[in-house]
Amino acid sequence: MVVKDKITVPALRARKARGPKISVVTAYDATFARLFDEGGADVLLVGDSLGMVVQGLPTTLGVTLDDMIYHGRAVARGATRAQVVGDMPFMSYQTGVVPALEAAGRMMKEGGYEAVKLEGGELYAEHVRAIVRAGIPVMGHVGLLPQSVHAMGGFKVQGRDAASAERVLSDARALEQAGAYAVVVEAVPWELAARITEAVSIPTIGIGAGAACDGQVLVGYDLLGMYAELRPKFVKHFAETGRAIVDATRAYVAEVRSGAFPAAEHAFGMPRERPAAPEPTGSGAVVQATPPRYGPAGEES
Ligand code: KIV
Repeated sequence: MVVKDKITVPALRARKARGPKISVVTAYDATFARLFDEGGADVLLVGDSLGMVVQGLPTTLGVTLDDMIYHGRAVARGATRAQVVGDMPFMSYQTGVVPALEAAGRMMKEGGYEAVKLEGGELYAEHVRAIVRAGIPVMGHVGLLPQSVHAMGGFKVQGRDAASAERVLSDARALEQAGAYAVVVEAVPWELAARITEAVSIPTIGIGAGAACDGQVLVGYDLLGMYAELRPKFVKHFAETGRAIVDATRAYVAEVRSGAFPAAEHAFGMPRERPAAPEPTGSGAVVQATPPRYGPAGEES
C-alpha cells in the first residue's frame, strides 16, 4: 500500500533544515500505534521503556530481543504514516559488531521495523557503521543512557560539567559520522542540546533536553498521564488518561454491582422493562420471573 506523506529516513533528515519539528512517541501495541499515527506523530518508537511501562520492571535491562520483535510486529500493524523504530535491547549489540548486525537484522525481518535505535556514541560507532552498511537505518542515543543506569548511578542528567558535555557532543558527532540518520539526546542541559543540534547535520530528538532540538520524544504512557511510578521534570501530561481509566473502571464496577449494566441495549432480546425481582420460593430457591431470551439463531454472534 502506498501511503501519502509516509515518513521516511530522507523525509526526516530534510526536516532538520526545513522543519516542522519532528514528533516521536513511544508505542508498544497496535491500538496505541493507530491512535498516535492518527494524531500525527512522525515516528513511533518501540522503546525498551516497555520493560518499565508495560512489563512493570524497574529498568529497561530485562527486555529481550524477542520482546522487541513481538511488540514491533504489533506496532507495525497499527502504523500507517509514521516511521516505526525499535530499540535494540540491552546486550543485543554490546557484545560485538556481528551480534549487533544479527540482532538488527532480526528486528527488521521479524519485527517489522523500519529502523533501529541503540544507546551510546563513540563506543558503538563501529557497530552503527556496520548496521547502516547493511541497509538498516540507525537512530543514535546520547546523554542519559537508560541501559547504563547502574553505571551512571541512576537516571541522572548528563553533561553538566565541561568534560562530560564534551563527551556527549563527541558521541553525537561519532554517530553522525558512522551514518546514523538521527540522534536522541536525553536528559542534558538545554545549552548542550542546542550545541549538539548546531554541530551535527542529522536531526536531534530531545527528551529532557530543551526546545532547541529538531524534534522531541515522549513515552506514550507519560504523554497520556498513565504512568505514575516515575515522573521526571521533563514529562508533560497532555491528558490525564490514567485518572480517566480509574474513574471509568469504578463506574463499571458500580454498574455491575447495581445491575445497571448490561442494559437492554447491551443484550440480545432482553426486555427494556426490568423484570420484577424474583420472589424467593418456600424452599429458598430463586425462580426467575422472565427466563433469559437470547433471540433467534444468529443474534448472539
Ligand atoms: O526506551 C525509550 O522509550 C526511549 C525513549 C524515551 C527515548 O529510549
